[in-house]
Amino acid sequence: MADNYLEKKMEAFHSLPSSAAQAKKNKTTLNKLLLKNRSHRGYDPKVVVREDHLRDIVSVVTKIPQACNQQCLRYRLVTPAEAHKILPLLKFGAALPELNLPFPGTEPQAFIICCAPNENKLTYMDLGIAAQSMLLRATEMGLNGICIGAFQKEKIIQAFDLPLTPLLVLAIGKGIEDIRLTEIRENEDHKYYRENGVHYVPKVCLNDLLLG
Ligand SMILES: Cc1cc2nc3c(=O)[nH]c(=O)nc-3n(C[C@H](O)[C@H](O)[C@H](O)COP(=O)(O)O)c2cc1C
Repeated sequence: MADNYLEKKMEAFHSLPSSAAQAKKNKTTLNKLLLKNRSHRGYDPKVVVREDHLRDIVSVVTKIPQACNQQCLRYRLVTPAEAHKILPLLKFGAALPELNLPFPGTEPQAFIICCAPNENKLTYMDLGIAAQSMLLRATEMGLNGICIGAFQKEKIIQAFDLPLTPLLVLAIGKGIEDIRLTEIRENEDHKYYRENGVHYVPKVCLNDLLLG
């Protein structure tokens, strides 16, 4: 009986694709999306992001994990008609202050204001999962975006008459920047920088991310 059980388990194990093969099969899409999903601070003014695009992006939130399944985050869509109310309240590219990003004429025109009734640890974890999921969906749709955590909170509450606290703003649009990742060791400078119009983002290599 016990032998038979093990035999069946082994058969089941071997009939599954190896985890490496599985990973290879799935990797293409996820890896491509992750690489494309860069933080853009300049957007094509000719590409208009509509409300239905924003609704599509937020719809991923109906499929993601949330701590205790609390689902307390709420989202205010900001279409181009209202962009002027939020743009002056956001800070882009604090590491490159001399550039005053975004360059005039390339400002994002659509936003998602992520709000919550409280600011506890679990809410922030939920926020991270939601934000990255939404940005990945935007990337899948051929758009780009960026998380903006540096904003004038009280003024945004006022401008949009928000009943909840804004925790993060996503800007959405068709990015026009040439953004490339570079690999660094953990003790090297993490600051993003620009050279000849290319935006470089240093990322710590895998070996230095692993403990032990
Ligand atoms: C939670 C969070 C808040 C951020 N806030 C800002 C911000 O206020 N302004 C900004 O220009 N970029 C902001 N960023 C974008 C980061 O600077 C960006 O993710 C980082 O430079 C790495 O670039 P990458 O997203 O292309 O990998 C934020 C990113 C995250 C995840």
